[in-house]
Amino acid sequence: MIQNLNDTFGISQHVTFHLGHNGMPKAVIANRHSTAEIYLHGAHVTSFQPQGAEEVLWLSEAAQFRQGKAIRGGIPIIWPWFGDHPTDTDQPAHGFARTAEWSVSETMALPGQRTKISFSLTHSAKTESLWPHPFMLELHVTVGRQLQVDLVTHNYHTEGVNISQALHTYFNVGDIAQVAVTGLSGRTYLDKVQGYKEFPQYGAIPFLEETDRVYLDTMDECIIDDQALKRKIYVDKLGSKSTVVWNPWVDKAKQMGDFPDNGYETMVCVETTNAANDARRVPPRGDHVLTQLIRLG
Ligand code: BG6
Repeated sequence: MIQNLNDTFGISQHVTFHLGHNGMPKAVIANRHSTAEIYLHGAHVTSFQPQGAEEVLWLSEAAQFRQGKAIRGGIPIIWPWFGDHPTDTDQPAHGFARTAEWSVSETMALPGQRTKISFSLTHSAKTESLWPHPFMLELHVTVGRQLQVDLVTHNYHTEGVNISQALHTYFNVGDIAQVAVTGLSGRTYLDKVQGYKEFPQYGAIPFLEETDRVYLDTMDECIIDDQALKRKIYVDKLGSKSTVVWNPWVDKAKQMGDFPDNGYETMVCVETTNAANDARRVPPRGDHVLTQLIRLG
């Protein structure tokens, strides 16, 4: 399989394919700007590192790389529902795209020595049993000094279809106690820790306890201000009017088998979403594009 992927999609100085953890195939992008790694399992970006900078994404040391399990860290693709299934609690949380095996559809060397790789996931008997709609999903990952991730939903049905979704990015930070997220001041959020009660956000978000919030009506760029690593990560987006900010803190971290007890100290999720009142209806035979853009200041 790896030989085949390299023969069909490998590009010298840009893209090669390798066996990653537990023998799972991954694409490795290495160009003059940055390196990145993407597993075909979940079309899951697990690493993004601009040249000369520290890793931008957080990946759990205890992450499991196996079929049916989502990789903990990086950029999980949450689709076609965010959080619990709207009506059936037996369905997997956060949908099935993050545990599906995706295909590579295209690789390209772009002007300016950037690299693009595209993945696809098409409906099948298995997806029909979980979500009875014909679709095609594409994930385009463009690696330059900035990382761009576009998740495209193609609705193949003659009727509109409802989705909620997220690019559920885990960011690597030096020390969560010295992190603030800005860009959401003046917005209202639903606090999942307090039964979805609504609160206004004033100023920057500090991290002092479990934080699990859906910020509403925001198209703004967020900035992760990391005093310990002395850097700022800029998270911009398109096609999204909601942003989720998550840190599990002490107790939740302990409850997750694939998350080190102290892992919460060095990560924060700033998720580009279509969640809560920002769930979307994709028109018949129409598309919806959700984009996240990540760069260092
Ligand atoms: C966040 C949710 O997006 O994902 C949290 O807001 C959830 O409530 C977190 O705990 C992680 O979810 P999971 O399914 O990957 O453990």
